Parts: sequence; C-alpha cells; structure tokens
Amino acid sequence: MGWHDVIESEAAVQAWESPLESARFGCSVERLTVPVMSEASLSAVREAVGGSAADVIVLRYPAEHVGWFAELTALGRTAVFADSLAYWRLRAGRGRAPEPSPDLWTEETADQAAVRESISGIFAMYGNHYLANPLFDPAAALAGYREWALRSVAEGGCVALRGRAAGPDESRLLGLATVEEDERRTEILLAGVVPQAQGRGLYAHLLRGVEERALARGAAEVVISTQGHNTRVQRAWARYGFEPAHTLLTVHLTRSRPRRASERPRPPASGGSRGRPTGPHAH
Ligand SMILES: CC(C)(COP(=O)(O)OP(=O)(O)OC[C@H]1O[C@@H](n2cnc3c(N)ncnc32)[C@H](O)[C@@H]1OP(=O)(O)O)[C@@H](O)C(=O)NCCC(=O)NCCS
Repeated sequence: MGWHDVIESEAAVQAWESPLESARFGCSVERLTVPVMSEASLSAVREAVGGSAADVIVLRYPAEHVGWFAELTALGRTAVFADSLAYWRLRAGRGRAPEPSPDLWTEETADQAAVRESISGIFAMYGNHYLANPLFDPAAALAGYREWALRSVAEGGCVALRGRAAGPDESRLLGLATVEEDERRTEILLAGVVPQAQGRGLYAHLLRGVEERALARGAAEVVISTQGHNTRVQRAWARYGFEPAHTLLTVHLTRSRPRRASERPRPPASGGSRGRPTGPHAH
C-alpha cells in the first residue's frame, strides 16, 4: 500500500484481501486502511471489521485517533498493537546529499540473487509489524520482504549502491532501495545498507541516488516510511533533509486468541471478495 492509498485517498475505509499474505502465513489476512485525508469515523471501521471473515485484519489508521485502540478491543476480536508507521517526505532537489565519491555509485539492478541475499541480511533484524503477532512466522515475514523486493526488481524499480572492491573491475553491493514511481513522486519501499557496511554514512549515498533518479524524471518529491521505533533511520532521513509528514497506527484484529504458527494447521487462502486484492507485499 503506497502513499496515495494510505495518505491521500478520500475513501473512508479501504478494505483489501491480501492473498499473498494469506498464502504466506497460512491464515486469511485482510487489510483495512483509514487514509489520513479521509474523514472516516470509528463506526465505519466497526462496520468494516464486522463484515470481515478474515482470520487477521491488519488495520491502519491515523495516529491522531488516540482513543480508537480502546474501542477496538471491544469488537469481539483480539486487538494486537503492532507499532506505528512514520511517513517522511523530501522535496526533490532539496536533499542534503553527501559529496559524491569516485568509489561509490548507484545503478538500477536486475541481479535477483544478489537482491535476495542482501534483503535477507538487511532486514533480518528489522522489527516489522508482523513480529507483534505470534500468528505470523518471522521467517515467513522475511521471505515476504524478499519477494516484495524481487517484484520491484522485475519492474525495474531497484536501485543498488555499489562500491569499488579489491580489483579494478570489481564492485560490491553495499545497499539497496526499491522504489515505486508515479508522475509526481518516488516512494522508497524497502531500503537499507548491508550489515557489514552499516555505520559508515553510506545510506545517504543511496538516498542521493534515489533523489537523483527522481529529479531525472521530473518527479517533485521522494517519500518513505518505517516503523515508529526505527529512530536510527529517521535520524538519517532528518540529516538528509526529509521531514516527518504523517503517522499511522497498525493494529492486528485477530479472530481468536492468536496461536503461534507452529500450533496451527495450514488452511487454504481466504475466499470471498472485498475491494481489490493487495498486489505486492506491503509494510
Ligand atoms: C538504518 C540504516 C539504513 C542506516 O544505514 P547506515 O549506512 O548504517 O547509516 P549511517 O552510517 O548514516 O548511520 C545511521 C545511524 O545508525 C547508527 N548505526 C549504524 N550502524 C549501526 C549498528 N550496526 N549498530 C548501531 N548503530 C548503528 C549510526 O551510528 C548512526 O547513528 P547517529 O544517527 O546517531 O549518527 C541501516 O542501518 C539499515 O539498513 N538498517 C536496516 C534496514 C532498515 O531499518 N531500513 C529502514 C526502513 S525501510
């Protein structure tokens, strides 16, 4: 779910089946999102929750509704608080990019094997929202990040940060950013630096590569999001010139007391149809 669906859409409550997540986690998953610009009320959320047959509803709503969580615990489902998503934005061309280095460069990559391996390393310790819920297997969540990144590779939306290695013609993959692009903006979906290269200021070079790519095609802004607890990356964004824009809360509403993945049979993916299915994996 990108910036438009989560922030700009005026639809009250958006409901999507999530067939990929359902298949991955072995229980039916649905996404309910209250976009920031909508004026949806809690009763619209209640109604959508009541009409859902999904085992798990991943609900996102603007964090300003501080009173909603207590109400969500009284809907006949278990409410699992799963942190927040912080959305930041940068006007393209305003970034405080580091000085270019002859030993570092960014380029689009189609190297699936390298992307698969790098995403595993970069996101192995990432505290994503699935970890809040014992129903979701952390290894399956990481596999989801890999699949999501590989879809971006197939669509030409994966930027690699490379650095010179030992030999004159050799290079190393140091970081990755997957992007979704429309006329107006570039949204960074997944980004990071491989663990061995972290802490050396390389991430800012990756951001520069993405900002330059956005400018080259005339886009006005670059946007990005992460879990609220990830203050480390938000410091890097602030240094680069991004500004915080919006915060949404994530709550999983599960049908019964959540059980660990190992305790469950694997049911088929959900049937029924509510809105359009989520395409790629989403935060
Ligand atoms: C967050 C991340 C992108 C930063 O990349 P980086 O190249 O290491 O960035 P920097 O070198 O500029 O360091 C950023 C901060 O993280 C700290 N840091 C970097 N590596 C660290 C490590 N291994 N342990 C603890 N802190 C570390 C730096 O000290 C710096 O802190 P400061 O802001 O107080 O100066 C990288 O750590 C990463 O890939 N993390 C996992 C994926 C992720 O969280 N992605 C963002 C959400 S999509």
